[in-house]
Amino acid sequence: MCGIIGYIGKKNASKIIIESLQRLEYRGYDSAGLATLDGKDLYLCREVGDLQNLINTIQEFPVKGSLGIGHTRWATHGEPSKINAHPHTGRRDQVAIVHNGIIENYEQLKEKLIGKGHKFKSETDSEVIAHLIEQYLDNGAQILEQAVLCALMDIKGTYAIAAVSKKEPNKIVAARCGSPLILGVGDNETFIASDTSAIIPYTRKIVFLEDFQVAVIDDQGFKISNINGSSVNYNITEIDWDVTAAQKKGYAHFMLKEIHEQPQMVKKILNEKLDFKNLDLKIDELIKIKSQILAAHQLIIQACGTSYHAAMIGEIIFEYFTNLHTDVEISSEFRYKHFIAEQGSLVISITQSGETADTLVALKKAKQRGLNTFSLCNVVGSSIARESDSVFYIHAGPEIGVASTKAFTAQLFSLYLISIFLGALKKNIKPELKNSLIKDLTYIPSLMSRVFDVENYIARCADKYHEFRDFYFLGRGINYASALEGSLKLKEVSYIHSSAYPAGELKHGPIALVTENMVTVCIVPKSVTYDKMMSNIQEIKARKGKVIAIATEGDEQIKKYADDVIYIPEVQEIFSPLLVAIPLQLLAYYIALKRGCNVDKPRNLSKGIAVD
Ligand code: G6P
Repeated sequence: MCGIIGYIGKKNASKIIIESLQRLEYRGYDSAGLATLDGKDLYLCREVGDLQNLINTIQEFPVKGSLGIGHTRWATHGEPSKINAHPHTGRRDQVAIVHNGIIENYEQLKEKLIGKGHKFKSETDSEVIAHLIEQYLDNGAQILEQAVLCALMDIKGTYAIAAVSKKEPNKIVAARCGSPLILGVGDNETFIASDTSAIIPYTRKIVFLEDFQVAVIDDQGFKISNINGSSVNYNITEIDWDVTAAQKKGYAHFMLKEIHEQPQMVKKILNEKLDFKNLDLKIDELIKIKSQILAAHQLIIQACGTSYHAAMIGEIIFEYFTNLHTDVEISSEFRYKHFIAEQGSLVISITQSGETADTLVALKKAKQRGLNTFSLCNVVGSSIARESDSVFYIHAGPEIGVASTKAFTAQLFSLYLISIFLGALKKNIKPELKNSLIKDLTYIPSLMSRVFDVENYIARCADKYHEFRDFYFLGRGINYASALEGSLKLKEVSYIHSSAYPAGELKHGPIALVTENMVTVCIVPKSVTYDKMMSNIQEIKARKGKVIAIATEGDEQIKKYADDVIYIPEVQEIFSPLLVAIPLQLLAYYIALKRGCNVDKPRNLSKGIAVD
């Protein structure tokens, strides 16, 4: 996925665009570029690689203009290169566009345009949009808006675009279909962006554009219409995000800062959702769909990536607290699957960004089947939030590190609150049990804080193991999903090969690879399967494998078998993933650091994939 930005106002557009692109970099960092208009002069600047390369060029060759568009790219069509970087221009360089999404019929369109004498400069699908718009302007479209609308009629696929034209140097035309786009309303200035965090320092007044809407922005303000020209009623939403939340605040990396934010963040979720005096949960998002929930006999949770690992834990806790049959699905599989669901089943989508294409399409499929929908999102006003019958915002705040950390634990914590609330609503858990579970949850923030006591020890483990090439992560029950998440974190940020297994599966194949060159991270807190885990550890040691154990404070026995033990405070097994997540995140972080990896911007990755 890519990030786009547009600005019209009184300030130097390139400065605003670059600052905004810095906040959008998590969406892609293969290349970056901008185009500004100063009167009829179009300035175009693009660089491959890190945004800093663009910043350096702009410092050396400043560009003029108080109107412009910018882009940060996650490559889909065409390798990361200067020529494939956005903005793209049409055949006579009259029009410049930035695009996030995928144009599925670009090859057919390109062929037709080549037939009309167009010469293409890049390998991207996006360039075709600039050529189409310019073609329509050449063929009689009076204004940019009209040419954009005609071009959009020809296009199949997903897009958030912004276009400027030398002919109308005071205007940006933007549109969306399947990729996020918001409009920011400032004082004598207007912004468009892929998400709110890009422009939050300039304005908190946001209009969330819907699919098939077009915004025309000029120095007088903006108008929004449907792609067919009909007018649109829109709301301006006031966003209350803390501007400093998207800054590193003294930490070396966003990932480390976000790992450290988890205890406070969980406390904030509790403050929001818990009446401490009566130990009562206030979850209006579920009350809103109470009748559907009470009628539901089945839950289906669907998600991708790290959110999918939260969903796996969700499956276990929903069945435990609500006694409802719960299935968990990977969105990219679920959307194509012939699935069986009773009428009235509730489909729960979990997503940090709220824009992941597979999750969104699967949600729409569930709606078409007449199922009820509920989502857990972080990004306010995102597509999945708006598409669902009801949305629970997890309130993790902006997560900038590409590898998800605090959004994961915020999802987990929210799932505990929701499942306990639902269990009580369904009368599956008695009031006394509900109260004692909630009480346990109120201790989580301080228990999470205590995990950081072993941060230096984890950093030393990273020193010891960072040169190993293969890692296994093992867990059982609810912590099998923790093992998957620990393994994913390590892969994402350190590029070390790793896999995760339910520990009982070790003997059915994976043990063949255990030698003195394999490190196995065993998640072995006090649990019903503790003894089984201990046997697994001994099986690994018998084959000379290295073992890092994540165990409960006070467990002395494990020291006899594991090479290194990372202790976490004692907690009920059902809540243990909340604590286990932190050492796994720290281990991945410190190993990546030792290996000199770009922790916040791992290669080939992007945060939330809004393309198929
Ligand atoms: C990408 C990100 C992951 C994230 C996944 C799902 O792969 O790199 O960190 O878990 O998308 O994103 P979502 O926004 O739907 O949670």
